[in-house]
Amino acid sequence: MAELVTVARKGPVGVVTINNPPVNASSQAVRVQLLALLKELEQDGNVSAVLICCAGRTFMAGADITEFDLPELPAPHPNEIHAFLDSMSKPVVAAMHGTTLGAGLELALSCHYRVAGSGARFGLPEVKLGVIPGAGGTQRLPRLIGLQKAVAMIDSGEMVSAAEALDSGLLDAVLEGDLADAALQYTEKLAGTHPGPRVLAYRPYSADTAQQAAAKELLARLHRPGRGGHARRQAVEATLQAGQIPFDAALEDEGRRFVLCRDTDESRALRHAFFAERAAARIPNLPANLTLRTIQTVGIIGSGTMGTGIAMSFANAGFPVVLQDLNEQTLERARKQVQTTYNAAVAKGRMSAEEAARRSALIQTTVDDTQLAGRDLIIEAVFEDFEIKKAIFRRLGEIARPGAILASNTSSLDVNVLAECSGRAGDVLGMHFFSPAHIMRLLEVVRCDTTAPEVLATIMQLAKRINKVAAVSGVCFGFIGNRMLEGYLREAEFLLMEGATPAFIDQSLEEWGLAMGPCRMIDMAGVDVAAKVVIEQRKAGNLPDDDTYRIVVQTLFERGRHGQKTGQGYYRYEGRKPVEDESALEIFRELGQKYGVKQRNDITAQEVVERCLYPLIAEGYRILEEGIAYRAGDIDVVWLHGYGFPAYRGGPMFHAQTVGEHKIVAAMERFAAERGNPYGYWDIPQSLAKALTA
Ligand code: 3HC
Repeated sequence: MAELVTVARKGPVGVVTINNPPVNASSQAVRVQLLALLKELEQDGNVSAVLICCAGRTFMAGADITEFDLPELPAPHPNEIHAFLDSMSKPVVAAMHGTTLGAGLELALSCHYRVAGSGARFGLPEVKLGVIPGAGGTQRLPRLIGLQKAVAMIDSGEMVSAAEALDSGLLDAVLEGDLADAALQYTEKLAGTHPGPRVLAYRPYSADTAQQAAAKELLARLHRPGRGGHARRQAVEATLQAGQIPFDAALEDEGRRFVLCRDTDESRALRHAFFAERAAARIPNLPANLTLRTIQTVGIIGSGTMGTGIAMSFANAGFPVVLQDLNEQTLERARKQVQTTYNAAVAKGRMSAEEAARRSALIQTTVDDTQLAGRDLIIEAVFEDFEIKKAIFRRLGEIARPGAILASNTSSLDVNVLAECSGRAGDVLGMHFFSPAHIMRLLEVVRCDTTAPEVLATIMQLAKRINKVAAVSGVCFGFIGNRMLEGYLREAEFLLMEGATPAFIDQSLEEWGLAMGPCRMIDMAGVDVAAKVVIEQRKAGNLPDDDTYRIVVQTLFERGRHGQKTGQGYYRYEGRKPVEDESALEIFRELGQKYGVKQRNDITAQEVVERCLYPLIAEGYRILEEGIAYRAGDIDVVWLHGYGFPAYRGGPMFHAQTVGEHKIVAAMERFAAERGNPYGYWDIPQSLAKALTA
């Protein structure tokens, strides 16, 4: 067994170091070795205090999540280690740096003293993986920092800073200077003392009644049948047991709930999402020893909402940005957008005024495109007009410095053509941001046929630096996300013509878990924007020869109902509130009549969900067949981070596995039989059909 936990004796202190890269996860090997060493140190007459620290970038960042797929957690359970710590006669100090998470924090809670460097952060993020703290976190944390703060950390899964941890009592000290040295000195002073009173498991505890009432209220709010949140409910319920029943019984209850949660579809989906997100960053078959390009400065062409949002994404990560547009008026609007956004962040206490000033100073604006020439990365973010974009790439080919990376933020156009226009096709790719670009985490990175491998790899690495989750797509209409959206929107519009209301369609899909139904989504994004994509695609000959295809959005556009911004679209708007609008329903009926669509009053929420989602999933299978996406997980990443797909369902491709591919095929065949299939809308992709016979 590799040596993952070692000990060094420094005077009276036994210094235990865990070294299990990259994040010191508590794997079985770590647990075995840690327990053995603690037992050895307890017996060692020359040791009178113990210090636990971790090598590398962080203290233990949790249990090893890959072990969750095993039928049973291989022994020893972390609780065995924690119980041993409870029983020790020598004080044990945890010295933490980086991110101390999950089982890592539970280990620290079982130590008798906790110290950390000032940059350290702490959390119990188990609910984000659909489980609950399963090694005493729900019982020890409230004993240390009180029920209210413990529930807040456990229910949200969010981290707290070292300063907050010190304030709440989670930490005994924040140490300055070299953590190893400072923690050793701290521990030396404790040598020879008895840790008994510091053992949280033995600490008498009864939660404040007002805090209990608040936690129960939260629990009531978390009861939303069928909408995820199972782990959050279990976590809060387990935490509420603290002080109500004996510690050991509460620990047993916590363990039972942990296993219950681990075995749910919700947890499987969230764990899949965790690993899919990380896998998506990896590009298969890259040449070894690839030298990445250096990106330190960024230029952006187009200072609309999108370009300005992209500029803020980079400024937030410390990159100097030059934002270029054709006239001062447009740039003035962009500067205002930047100011408003940062002022709002300051007003909400999310950012200091100095930080806001520093970030906005990083964004320079100009009408002179030669200012872009020296930039390492130039992103074109003008509106979707192919001719203008082609001209921009021709121009960039002339002015950009050799070796600069040239990217387009297009959401649907052929980036291969733009690459060709630049005359340096190896340097070009797509960087498809999602609006609002400084908030939405997805970055669809579009690989052209000609993109040089180091250009692709550089942008994938850059994505992490600007806090985006990136997934690679090949070139095709709409790339991964918008291409899959087509079938979904097509069916939503057909359902409207059959008599379903926008509110019913949206509600059905939102209750299923999507952040926003299709009608509200288009109204928000702009009916005009959505309709123009359809009209352009019709011109380009990319759409089926079906007059009814996306006719609803085109008609709303023609009638000037451009969505929220004109006060009317699929809905009528009272402020930002959508209200069902009889005149819109009239348009849908009128279209239904015109195209001979039978009116129905038997449309169920289940039909809405299946009719809208199964074409979307089927397109995902085609995208994989064509090699547009490297992996099914990449498609899930796109939908989870760019389209409000519920994380507890793991993304459309994972959801297909949860539902069962045979059920999806059966439903598609049923829709084809009921509705006819003249345009191939319900064709079953080969790989989906094959999955059934495999
Ligand atoms: N188990 C197994 N592998 C893990 C892991 C874990 N807990 N945490 C991270 N990894 C792996 C990642 O999959 C990734 O692997 P890869 O390089 O092969 O893709 C590698 O470690 C590095 O991870 P990141 O790319 O995420 O590195 P970052 O530096 O960006 O982030 C982090 C580090 C903040 C620790 C982040 O990895 C993270 O949030 N990890 C999960 C933490 C977590 O959820 N802990 C609780 C686990 S559940 C638990 O502890 C149950 C307990 O109560 C019993």
